[in-house]
Amino acid sequence: MIKVLDTRSSLDEFRKSLSAETSIGLVPTMGNLHAGHLTLLEKSCMENDFTIITIFVNPKQFGPTEDFNQYPRTFEQDLEKIANLNLQLKSKIIIFAPKDPDEIFAKGFSTTISVGAITQLLCGRFRPTHFDGVTTVVYKLFKLANAHNAYFGQKDFQQCVIIKKMVKDLEIPIKLHIMPIIRNSDGLALSSRNQYLNDDQKLQALHLPETLIKIEKMINISVDPKKLIESELENKAWDYLEVLDTKDLTLPNSKTKEVVIIGAYRLGSTRLLDNRVVKLNA
Ligand code: PAF
Repeated sequence: MIKVLDTRSSLDEFRKSLSAETSIGLVPTMGNLHAGHLTLLEKSCMENDFTIITIFVNPKQFGPTEDFNQYPRTFEQDLEKIANLNLQLKSKIIIFAPKDPDEIFAKGFSTTISVGAITQLLCGRFRPTHFDGVTTVVYKLFKLANAHNAYFGQKDFQQCVIIKKMVKDLEIPIKLHIMPIIRNSDGLALSSRNQYLNDDQKLQALHLPETLIKIEKMINISVDPKKLIESELENKAWDYLEVLDTKDLTLPNSKTKEVVIIGAYRLGSTRLLDNRVVKLNA
C-alpha cells in the first residue's frame, strides 16, 4: 500500500519519524502523471531511501485567464500509475497530495519568492507572474519535504534555470537533478497539456521538435541559424524561438560552452514547450 498524505501535519509527522541519515528525494508535480514524471520518480527512488512525490495544482502559477480550472486533475489514475511501478520502488514512495490549498499556503500567506529579471524572459513575456508562482510553491515544498534531492524535467528548461538560481541565491540545502525530456514515438515532448490537442494539432505540433533538430544540426556544423529562426518567427504560432546560453539564458558569447535551443509554439489555446541542449565546439 502506497502512503498517501494530504495534510501538512501528516507530512511533518512522517518527516519526524525518519532519522537524520535517511535520504529523501522530492518530485514536485501538478499530477496528471505521464512517463516523464515516472522517470523522475524512478530516478529518485533509486537514489534515495524515500521519495516524496507532491501532487498539487498550484493556483499561484496560473494567470487570471489561464487554464487553472481546466487543468487535468486525475488523482485516481495517478495513483494507479504509481501502484504499477515495481514493488521495490513503490515501497519507497510517499504521495503528498493536499486537497486544501491552505495546507501549502495557510490563510494570510502573502510572501512571493521572485528570482527577478530571468522570470520575465521567454515564457515570462507571456506569463509575467508564472515563475514567481512556481518559485513560491517550490520553496514551500522544499521546506515541507525537507528533502536532500529534488528532481525536475528538462522540458521546462527556464523553470529549471530559475529554480537553480533560487537554490543558489537562498543557499537552500538541496541538490537539484534535471532529467532529460521524454518524448512520444513521433518526437513530441510529453506534457500534460498535449491532451488538449486534437489529432490534426498533434501532427502540426511536430513542427516544434523538428525545427529544434534542424537548428541543432546547423549549430553542430557551425552554421549560424539566425536566418532560419527569423523566417520561422514570421509564423505567428511561435511565441518564441531562441538560442541562448544554458547558464543564464543570455545571448551566447565567445565564452559560451553550451547553448539551449528553446521554443514555445501555440496551437489554438495550447502552448507547447521544447528545447535541445547543444555543446559548442571549443
Ligand atoms: O513543473 C511543474 O509541474 C510545476 O511547475 C511544479 C514544479 C510542480 C510547481 O508547481
